Amino acid sequence: MIAPDAAIATRVPYEVYFDADIYAREQERIFRGPHWTYVALDSELPNPKDFKTSFLGDTPIVVTRAADGELHAFINKCAHRGALVCREPRGNKATHQCVYHQWSYDLAGNLIGVPFRRGIEGKGGYGPDFDTGALGLTKLRVDAYSGLIFVTADPEVESLFDYIGPQMRPWIDRVYRKPTRILGYTRQFVRANWKLYAENIRDPYHASLLHLFHTTFGIYRSSQGGGIILDETGRHSFLRAFKRTEAEETESYKAADLRTYKEEYSLEDPSLLRSRAELTPELTNSIQTIFPGLVLQQIANTLATRQIVPKGPNAYELIFTYFGYADDDDEIAAIRLKQANLVGPGGYISMEDGYATEIVQQGIVEDRSGASFMELGGTTNESDENLITEASLRAFWTYYNRLMDIHAA
Ligand code: FES
Ligand SMILES: [Fe+2]
Repeated sequence: MIAPDAAIATRVPYEVYFDADIYAREQERIFRGPHWTYVALDSELPNPKDFKTSFLGDTPIVVTRAADGELHAFINKCAHRGALVCREPRGNKATHQCVYHQWSYDLAGNLIGVPFRRGIEGKGGYGPDFDTGALGLTKLRVDAYSGLIFVTADPEVESLFDYIGPQMRPWIDRVYRKPTRILGYTRQFVRANWKLYAENIRDPYHASLLHLFHTTFGIYRSSQGGGIILDETGRHSFLRAFKRTEAEETESYKAADLRTYKEEYSLEDPSLLRSRAELTPELTNSIQTIFPGLVLQQIANTLATRQIVPKGPNAYELIFTYFGYADDDDEIAAIRLKQANLVGPGGYISMEDGYATEIVQQGIVEDRSGASFMELGGTTNESDENLITEASLRAFWTYYNRLMDIHAA
């Protein structure tokens, strides 16, 4: 039940980051509820019989492409006794067979094979009323927008197109404007609640303060032009930054006397930051979030999706999928690979993020009376033309609180 009041969240009770009952309710209301969860890029499953395993919240799932090109998705849990049916991250198979007792399923998740179904020499096996049709894998709705594949467990939820909404679609279209090509993956396991990363990625405040590489080498500074765009529910967001002139930015940083500006540093290999203009409008950084767990990232020429996968109240996994375009020339392909070093678990500008979420988790441990403080840029939760604001965090929590029936004091 969504509470009718929409008080804007400026305090977040710490217990939402570690309470096991709240975590269980999130799985039900968010991940298995009326939302679409990103699971793959279509270029990960280009051919008939391709598949990829992924997650809907903490539930393991499989996405397949059938012989007719259509996408299917199902929960990766054998109808016999619950084992994972598909144990590889990706591949190409005409059928999926559970290793435990070898029940097998077609690409739509229908049960098509059961060993010793009639027993041996009339003994054992299943009875005459055994119905393979009633024992398939649990199917999920699957749909794609601009090459991004999403699933939902809710048969009633709005279309994916409407779920993403008019404020967010143009920014997805800006990046996913032609066929993509997968460059690789990184995965990291973080000992913190998944919502701390959902906050981190919506938070322009820390970007220029925590990540010294950003500001030292001018990839991102709070003095840059930019702002945030929110959708009308507050659950999705788009953060963009564009360059002012070098002189303007450097002067404003020196004037502010922050630890973040270090004139004496230079890169041993400056080609790391040699970029090519390619997207319109041109932005140095664009970070888009689609609730609940997708991040779309463009930083210079490095493009990636990030999946936030909850792993219990106190842990999440972060999966980066790096991509370019199918028609990339050699030069831009090399730039993307080199700039992949900026992000991921050991990235020059993102290795601090996992750690930052862990030290929050450590700091708030079992604090059931405290709350975080989110009033940077005021107490509204609207789109804004500056980056010194926590408006997109307030918007996230306002939506979350209504969904979860949480009423912060
Ligand atoms: S658990 Fe899958 S076949 Fe038995
Ligand atoms: Fe960050």
